[in-house]
Amino acid sequence: MIEVTVNGEPRSLDVPADTPILWVLRDTLKLTGTRFGCGLAMCGACTVHLDGSPIRSCLTPISQAQGKQITTIEAMESDPVGQAVQQAWMDEAVAQCGYCQSGQVMSAVSLLRNHPNPSDEQIDSGMSGNICRCGTYPRIRKAIKRASENGVAAIDESLFTEVKA
Ligand code: FES
Ligand code: FES
Repeated sequence: MIEVTVNGEPRSLDVPADTPILWVLRDTLKLTGTRFGCGLAMCGACTVHLDGSPIRSCLTPISQAQGKQITTIEAMESDPVGQAVQQAWMDEAVAQCGYCQSGQVMSAVSLLRNHPNPSDEQIDSGMSGNICRCGTYPRIRKAIKRASENGVAAIDESLFTEVKA
């Protein structure tokens, strides 16, 4: 058994240790918000957080999550930074086909936790691993700046203790 916490819920998983986290999320736990794109750690569609840091779940085996916390797009509606990012995404009408966007949001949340007032260079660097075939990059950049202006920068540091622990 592999013991992990997924979106705050302890889970005992009877799966092979080398199963990619992506397939545990989608097939075993039915959390289908995280997407399969390339399967090669190249596109970022499968981005989730492992103990608060973004990872490519398509190539990360579930054994690496033993005893750790996995956070997915499904948890962002109850996360202060996730809420700010998702609201900004809607305000800027970022999504086109939407396929890449759960991964984009997870990377944006991580970026804003590390840089509540990100520069253009920090946005480019933080989001460089997430590809959008619809070319929504200008709207993503605007939405990240809007999320920052709308309050991510003012969110109390104590909210990040789980991430920094
Ligand atoms: S599906 Fe994981 S990086 Fe593309
Ligand atoms: S919105 Fe279509 S791939 Fe990004």
